[in-house]
Amino acid sequence: MRHLLDTTDLTVEEIDQIIHLAMDIIENKEKYAHVCDGKKLATLFFEPSTRTRLSFEAAMMELGGNVLGFSEASSSSASKGETVADTAKIVSCYADIIAMRHPREGAPRKAITKSDVPVINAGDGGHSHPTQTMTDLLTIYREKGRLDNLTIGLCGDLKFGRTVHSLVKAMCRYSNIKFVLISPKELAMPDYVKTHYLEENGIEYVEVEDMDDVIADLDILYMTRVQGERFASQEEYMKHRDAFILDLDKLKTAKEDLTIMHPLPRITEITLEVDDDPRAKYFEQALNGKYVRMAIILTLLKWKDEPYTTNIDESKVVSDELKCSNPHCISNFETGKHKFVLADDNETYRCIYCETKAER
Ligand code: CP
Repeated sequence: MRHLLDTTDLTVEEIDQIIHLAMDIIENKEKYAHVCDGKKLATLFFEPSTRTRLSFEAAMMELGGNVLGFSEASSSSASKGETVADTAKIVSCYADIIAMRHPREGAPRKAITKSDVPVINAGDGGHSHPTQTMTDLLTIYREKGRLDNLTIGLCGDLKFGRTVHSLVKAMCRYSNIKFVLISPKELAMPDYVKTHYLEENGIEYVEVEDMDDVIADLDILYMTRVQGERFASQEEYMKHRDAFILDLDKLKTAKEDLTIMHPLPRITEITLEVDDDPRAKYFEQALNGKYVRMAIILTLLKWKDEPYTTNIDESKVVSDELKCSNPHCISNFETGKHKFVLADDNETYRCIYCETKAER
């Protein structure tokens, strides 16, 4: 059964099909108003959300289907100790498809070990957020008319910001993409994203700490929030919260056709006056999230009987004495073997749940 755990579960052709389906939905809403009559989507949100959960629910309703679920772990039996895998098994009895958000990295990959219905990762800790990426790709396509030949600035918390990890994984498969990674050193893009996705795909990128030096070069500026909930202390978070603030002054040297994006919610990183700049597209981006999630639900229901495809090479998966070094990885909480895949360098093993390097 096909699931959507990461953007790498989709080929470039499949990504393009979903984008085009979303475009057709935007143009022909009536045609899709009953295509999910009698179907149910379960939204299992163990972590807060406004856009992702509500856009998933609105998406299913606009397809004619129904929704059920919970919006916090405390109102589910997770609070009594039920595992993610068991939760998914049980919810499979009540729903045709699951959208799951969880604070532990790799939780949706645990869910598919027991689920009898397709599972969509709606954000797993600081790891991935593939439906946000599909939202971002639809937004870029609608604004620029293409997904190649772009210089993309990613700005803010690139360490814990799962949306930028997923976006890199998707965009590094298009041609002539350049990334400008703008962050304080402490919040830099994780090594596995740089080595496994950027460098191994020959993608040009630079890392800088000052937005002013690079803003004029960008076609896309993707702002992100510093992820307060992932810091060890409030003090540490406050040290970085206002690292980058985009205001009209900073935009003076930017291109006239720059597209300013943000997965939202925003805290201080974009001033309110920027909202009225025609280059600001983050509210359109949030609306695109509903259309692309309609396309994703329809596509996964259509693919229900196809085998799950992923970029993980099963022949390179091991589960011996290695241990995942990431304290937020689901493999350190739920029973079952740790599993690692040998990277292309033939030396490094990475956790299949969170992609962190293995430890002996
Ligand atoms: N962009 C995003 O994931 O927003 P929510 O946390 O509100 O779902």
